[in-house]
Amino acid sequence: MKESLASTTILGKDHTGGVPTALTLDLLRLQGEAMTLGQRAKIVGRFSPAEQIDIHQEYATAQAVFWKKWTVFRCSQAGEGDPNFGDVQKVLGVNRYFAREIVNPEAGAFIVDLGGGSGTVPASFTKQQREGLAGCAIIDNNDLLAEKAEQRLKRMSIANSRFINHDLADGSLPEKLSEIISAAKPSHVVVTTNWSLYFLDAPTRTLFRSCLDPKVIGGRPSRLVANCITVGKFDREKLKQGFIKHLPSYLARFPKTTFRAIQALKQMEQFADELTETTILRTAGEFETLMREAGLTIAAVNPTLLWGQSTAITAVK
Ligand SMILES: C[S@@+](CC[C@H](N)C(=O)[O-])C[C@H]1O[C@@H](n2cnc3c(N)ncnc32)[C@H](O)[C@@H]1O
Repeated sequence: MKESLASTTILGKDHTGGVPTALTLDLLRLQGEAMTLGQRAKIVGRFSPAEQIDIHQEYATAQAVFWKKWTVFRCSQAGEGDPNFGDVQKVLGVNRYFAREIVNPEAGAFIVDLGGGSGTVPASFTKQQREGLAGCAIIDNNDLLAEKAEQRLKRMSIANSRFINHDLADGSLPEKLSEIISAAKPSHVVVTTNWSLYFLDAPTRTLFRSCLDPKVIGGRPSRLVANCITVGKFDREKLKQGFIKHLPSYLARFPKTTFRAIQALKQMEQFADELTETTILRTAGEFETLMREAGLTIAAVNPTLLWGQSTAITAVK
């Protein structure tokens, strides 16, 4: 018998990324106007086939427009151009902590950075970690970033490093990736993703499955290390409190950058608002579920980044 739409539960209890829990599809339709594109995209499978096609197209277009629009603000480095996200990140130190302490690549590792932007993760390693790498591939489909990322990697003297312009939204990895990895002769492969992967569930699962597939990484020891927003949205009050609490130490360590970070805060809020409107923001729990469904095992979860607002998950095959 056909499933009654009216009684279809939309989301389970773990899904707290901004979509109300336990709504029926009919209720959801009634509230359709109020749902953001990101929310509709997150539950796309619940819509009719025709609606699904529309949501897919609308989502893909909005994502491309969004990331291009915010390229300069979101992917500039601290001190570069106008006050930007990089200044805020440098002050907060979350990228440094994620890259150095959690990703913490061993000598001989090859880094694959999914949605890697201008190379924030490799650029945040210590000099020693960077010099020990066998190679690095940043995969991102924003061509405005290619030159910036390549120059940054060159400055960092990371061996065998490159930016690969590739769209990950359908869950596919670049065809030449396995060849690139094997040419670098790494001892390990570490796949990272820092606040990226805003794709639909199915391609995200495919991506998780294939990024640790021996066909891609050549059977070397490997892990996936993802940093994501803990509850799928930042609590601004908590971020503000944490920032104010640590302000004296930030000012003492990075006076210029801290002033720039303060100047960037208004735009940060605007960026975060637009991100929430257009994008699938998954909770850490949802990322873990997708990883398990992709056949991975969760090896470690660190929920302490950014005063608990961000969570790093390490998974292995
Ligand atoms: C929040 S930024 C994170 C960038 C970088 N990981 C960092 O920590 O600075 C998200 C990145 O995902 C990339 N992205 C968005 N959609 C993508 C897609 N379909 N394929 C590949 N990359 C994509 C964007 O261009 C952007 O650089």
